[in-house]
Amino acid sequence: MAKKSTESTSPPRERAFLVGVELRSEPSILPLDDSLAELSLLADTAGLEIVGETTQKLDKPNSETYIGSGKVEELKILVEETLADLVIFDSELSPRHQRELEEKFGENVRILDRTALILDIFARHADTREGILQVELAYYEYRLPRLTRAWTHLARQAGGGGGRTGSTGGVGLRGPGETQLEVDRREIHKRITHLKEELEKVRAHRHRYREQRRRSNVPTVALVGYTNAGKSTLLNQLSNADVYVANQLFATLDPTTRRVELPAGHTALFTDTVGFIQKLPTQLVAAFRATLEEINEADLLLHVLDVTHPNALEQWQSVQETLVDIGSGDIPVITALNKIDRLADPASISHSLTHATPTVPISALTGQGTGELLQLIESQLFENYNAVTVHIPYREGQLISLFHEQGKVESMTPKDQYITIQGMLPVRMLYHFKNYFYPPQEPEEERIDLENEE
Ligand code: GTP
Repeated sequence: MAKKSTESTSPPRERAFLVGVELRSEPSILPLDDSLAELSLLADTAGLEIVGETTQKLDKPNSETYIGSGKVEELKILVEETLADLVIFDSELSPRHQRELEEKFGENVRILDRTALILDIFARHADTREGILQVELAYYEYRLPRLTRAWTHLARQAGGGGGRTGSTGGVGLRGPGETQLEVDRREIHKRITHLKEELEKVRAHRHRYREQRRRSNVPTVALVGYTNAGKSTLLNQLSNADVYVANQLFATLDPTTRRVELPAGHTALFTDTVGFIQKLPTQLVAAFRATLEEINEADLLLHVLDVTHPNALEQWQSVQETLVDIGSGDIPVITALNKIDRLADPASISHSLTHATPTVPISALTGQGTGELLQLIESQLFENYNAVTVHIPYREGQLISLFHEQGKVESMTPKDQYITIQGMLPVRMLYHFKNYFYPPQEPEEERIDLENEE
C-alpha cells in the first residue's frame, strides 16, 4: 500500500507536555525514563509536538489528581511556560483522575493518558472495515465513563487531515468532536452493541476462512512483536509483498496474509499482525479479538525482536506476556533477532539475549539470515514429529479428525468416554491436543537467560 503524503495538509502540531509516574505499588516492565521515551514516540506518531516532560515517584496514585498536589502546581507553571495544549500521562487515568485534573488545569489545557494516545494512533492507521470497527469499539468503551470535553482535541487535530486513513470519518476519534460529545451514554451503549454484532460477523467470516486454510493443510505462521520491531519489513522481504512500512509505532493494524515458499519446497502462510506495546490498553486487546485470533490459531509464532533497541529484553518479555494473556502461550515460538545490520558484531547477539525459544539473527531490511530463518521454520512446521498417545473425548470430534488429517495414526482404541489414539503428530499441532495427552503433561516454564544480559 502506498504511503499518502501528509506534509502539505497537516495542521500545526499541538503542543504536548508529558508526565511519567513510577508507582512502587505497580512496578512497570520498563524503567520510568524509557517508558517516557516510548510515550514521546507515541505522541510524535500522533502528530504532536513535545514541549517538555516531568516525572514523579509515588507509592500509589493520589486518589484525586493521580500525581501529588504539589506536583500539580509545578506542572501548571511548566504548562504555562511552554504554552502546552495537552498534558499526557504515561499511565491509564481513571475517569475521576481525568475529571479532577481537567478542573485543575482549566479548559485551555486538555488531559490525556497513554491509552487515549494509542487509541488515536490506531484510529489513524485503521484501514480496513474490520480495523475501523475494532478501533471504534475500543474508543467507545474507553470513552463511555469519560464523557468530557477532553475528547475534542484529537478529533479536531486528526480531522484536519493527515494520517493514512482519509476515509475513516466514521471513527469517533476522527469525527467532528462537538457532535461526538453530544452523544449520550445510551446511544453509546447502543453503538457498542451494534459494533460488537458487526465484529461477531467478521469473526465468523474469519473463522470460516481459517477452517478452509486448515483443511488445505497449509500451515500458518503469525508474525508477532513489539511495535516497530520490523514485522512488516520482514513480511515484505519474505514474500515480496507490499506491506506498509514506517518508522512509526503501530503502522500496521490490519492483518495481512502472504504465501511464502520455504527452502525445501513447502509453503506456509505468513500473517503480519498488530504490534504490541507495554501497558497495551485492555480495551484494545478486547476489541482486537478477531485480529488476535489470527495469532491464536497460528501453527507457529515468529516473534520479531529489534535487538538493537536498548529495551530489547523488556520488549521481548512484554510480548511473551501479552501472548499468554490472549491465550497463545502454548503455540511454539521462533524468535527472529532483527536489525543485525545495525550491529557492529552481529555474531555476538544470540548469546546476549534470550534462550527461551530458538533464535535466528536476521536483517529484515537486507535479507541477511532470512534463509536460515525459513529453514528453521520449515523444519519446525514439517519435519518435527513427536510420538504421542492421546485420550480424546468423543465430543471433541474435530480433534480426532485433525489427528487423522495432520498426523500419522498407528492405532485407535475406542473406550466408553473417549478414544485412545497412538501415533505421530507434527510438533506444530501438539498444543491442540495438550489437554488430552496420556500421561498428562506438565506445562513447561519459560526460562529467560538473564545471566548473559548486559
Ligand atoms: P508496527 O506496524 O508498529 O507493528 O511495526 P513493524 O514491526 O511492522 O515494523 P516495520 O516493518 O514497519 O519497521 C519499523 C522500522 O524499522 C522501519 O523504519 C523499518 O525500515 C525499520 N527496520 C525494519 N527491519 C529492519 C532491519 O532489519 N534493519 C534496519 N536497519 N531497520 C529495519
